[in-house]
Amino acid sequence: MDRLPGFRDFYPEPLPHPDVWSADARQYIFDKWRAAARRYGFREYDGPPLEPLELFTTKSGEEIVGQLYNFTDKGQREIALRPEMTPTLARMVAAHERNYKKPIKWFAIPQLFRYERQQKGRLREHFQFNADIFGEADVAADAELIALLIDTLRSLGLTAQDFIIRLSSRNAWQEYFSQRSSDETKAYEFYQIIDKLEREQPETSKAKLAALGFSYDEITSFIKAGQPTAELNAILQNLAARGLGDFVKVDYQVIRGLAYYTGVVFEAFDQKGEFRAIAGGGRYDNLVKLISGGKVNLPALGFGMGDVVLFELLKSRGLLPKFEAGLDAFCLIEDETLRADSLKLIQDLRAVGYAVDYSLTPAKPDKQFKRAQEIKAAHTIKLERTATGELSARMKNLNTREEKVFAPADFAPHLSPKS
Ligand code: HAM
Repeated sequence: MDRLPGFRDFYPEPLPHPDVWSADARQYIFDKWRAAARRYGFREYDGPPLEPLELFTTKSGEEIVGQLYNFTDKGQREIALRPEMTPTLARMVAAHERNYKKPIKWFAIPQLFRYERQQKGRLREHFQFNADIFGEADVAADAELIALLIDTLRSLGLTAQDFIIRLSSRNAWQEYFSQRSSDETKAYEFYQIIDKLEREQPETSKAKLAALGFSYDEITSFIKAGQPTAELNAILQNLAARGLGDFVKVDYQVIRGLAYYTGVVFEAFDQKGEFRAIAGGGRYDNLVKLISGGKVNLPALGFGMGDVVLFELLKSRGLLPKFEAGLDAFCLIEDETLRADSLKLIQDLRAVGYAVDYSLTPAKPDKQFKRAQEIKAAHTIKLERTATGELSARMKNLNTREEKVFAPADFAPHLSPKS
């Protein structure tokens, strides 16, 4: 039976087939995400993968609602698999924000589900690194978040030659809209057209804009001029002070598709323009209020970075390391009378943190050694009985072929971990 289209199987390396994904690469990316978030003082949270349908239908906006995996459960509840994390997070923060000092800086790595048309960089499930800040209205928070986004990508080996953060502002577009239209109910529709400018035929965008009373040419010149607003200038200066100025540029083409964004918005793209967005985010100062029914009002901002485009980009730039099993030692049990003592040695080594494996059932010595080599163990270890009946342990470094012999109790300090 095949897996569903747009879903992935993750296998340990070496991969058995080009059509499967690497569980090792996924872990590598998750580790980098977590480490970067922690360096910036973000704490990890999580929420349920299933939520009431209403959480998304009222808060995320049309585009994502059209992609929902939703159904009626056995208790007749209308529910949906989460397509994004932000509404869940806003709900969680609204419920217990009083228990946390502001600003709240939290991150998560949820698996998300969207019934999208499958294309390069877009699947029906993906993992998304989310980092969000609550309770800080100053643009210093926007700059901090963008710095985290840049550093996360840098920690994976990407440079300013590989990616760029396109910085924009819904405030700038809001002002543009209000100066030319008096019908505020059409603002989101207008943003959606701007969001799709790059992906749609100019004729289509032109017609849609004209229907709302806007000129395509005027809009393209506004984008081209790219005059930063005061808040965008403050962010650019903040990032320049950190030495991160080369990673950002103002680009009003970015406006973000989701309904809840209110102020500064941004997206990360590869410099060659080969891939879809690597990450996207911005301010959503009204969402907590909306979700809490007006009870809690907290400014908020964040971003989401998916694993799919990121993986493709790292692969194409040769930035994924070679993944190996990472065993410190493989214990050879060539004499079955030594199995009990070998098990004791294996447990002692594992207890102090070494990764050790062995053959579960009796096997020929050459087969055991071959297995140790295949899984790229750093060492083999083997118990032997001396002529006088004492136990000794022989350790072989599989890279240097160097051998050492110890009393089993003295073993652990000599087994240096591979990494
Ligand atoms: P988003 O732009 O919808 O934002 O998604 C963020 C990133 O997730 C995208 O740039 C892309 O890398 C990845 N992504 C989205 N959909 C897919 C898909 N179908 N397949 C593969 N990757 C995908 C949000 O979701 C916001 N909630 C982010 C946010 C957090 N804003 C504030 N806080």
